[in-house]
Amino acid sequence: MAKKSTQGEDHKDHGVLYVGIDLGTSRTSVAASNGVRETLPSFVGYPKDVVSKKLLKKDVLFGDEAISKRLSLNLFRPLEHGVLKCGEGGDDDAEGNMRAARDLLLEAVRMIRPRKDELIYAVIGAPAQASINSKNAIINVARESVDSVMLCSEPFAVAYGQDMLEDVLVIDIGAGTVDLCRMHGTMPEDADQITLNTAGDHVDSELMDLLSKSYPQAQFTTQMIKELKERHSTVAEVQAPIQAILPVDGKPTEFDVTEAVRGACSSIVDPIVDGLGKLVASFDPEFQDRLKGRVLLAGGGSQIKGLDMAIEIRMKEMLGNGRVVLIEEPMYGGANGALKIAHDMPEEYWEKLK
Ligand SMILES: Nc1ncnc2c1ncn2[C@@H]1O[C@H](COP(=O)(O)OP(=O)(O)OP(=O)(O)O)[C@@H](O)[C@H]1O
Ligand SMILES: [Mg+2]
Repeated sequence: MAKKSTQGEDHKDHGVLYVGIDLGTSRTSVAASNGVRETLPSFVGYPKDVVSKKLLKKDVLFGDEAISKRLSLNLFRPLEHGVLKCGEGGDDDAEGNMRAARDLLLEAVRMIRPRKDELIYAVIGAPAQASINSKNAIINVARESVDSVMLCSEPFAVAYGQDMLEDVLVIDIGAGTVDLCRMHGTMPEDADQITLNTAGDHVDSELMDLLSKSYPQAQFTTQMIKELKERHSTVAEVQAPIQAILPVDGKPTEFDVTEAVRGACSSIVDPIVDGLGKLVASFDPEFQDRLKGRVLLAGGGSQIKGLDMAIEIRMKEMLGNGRVVLIEEPMYGGANGALKIAHDMPEEYWEKLK
């Protein structure tokens, strides 16, 4: 069956709604062939007791609402390091996490507003190195929300979305992991991929450490620090001071957090360039320069101001040269690419669910 790869209304002939889903540790983003794009934090909460249920008037809450009502909820973040907490790593509540993941996907599909009669064909981006077990778990939880599903590796989706499948290095900076992937015109293999734990959550914990050392009197939570980072993140040298208001003994107090923010954000640059160096060094020497000249920067963490430049500068120091392109809409890079794959994929590749 011929499918066009434009993201328009070309699915009407077979009543299929194509969907690209980026199922992330931190955010889940969806892009669909009906033009809808949505994103929500990957949090799912269930009321703790009858009182909270009566108060919230809901059986399940998602995303920002779940975060803000977390004190009355059993809160789940069903993915960790990009992998479904399906019991493999001895997770406490595998069943609860599976249920949360299932509900999260149901909500994601609801958000794209499919028509009743449409079949939903979804491509879900999974971490490049997810185990078979974890992949099967994702397919299983998708069963209730979509008619047909395919998994693809997340960096592959990003590169596919940019039409850059040959001699490209993808850097995808998420919450739990930075995924580095070398593309050379085929599906990436294990040797093409490196996963680092120095991602967004790492920046948050560095920032917590730096702030509690500089300002032991200030009170803050991980969530407050994450919000602070997302508002002010930068690795750039020249700029106005960053001021944050944090409570001291209950009293809001202003602090200069410029150095702490810059230090925490900068902490991810060296590990990334080290990883890129490994992927370059083990590549065909004739094509190494081309590879270094085609680095794609994606993921929520790529929104740190000046990060593309900082990586380029470090690449020049360590590897002789480097050219980094920040993709447009970093939050949707994975979902847009997965949607494009969904459009282009021949019928026989789809795993039928229903
Ligand atoms: N403006 C910003 N500046 C810096 N970091 C940001 C910004 N906005 C979001 N982030 C960070 O990006 C990370 C989330 O990125 P993304 O949504 O790509 O992750 P994910 O795909 O859910 O995670 P993973 O790939 O690990 O599964 C979080 O750590 C978040 O704090
Ligand atoms: Mg991601």
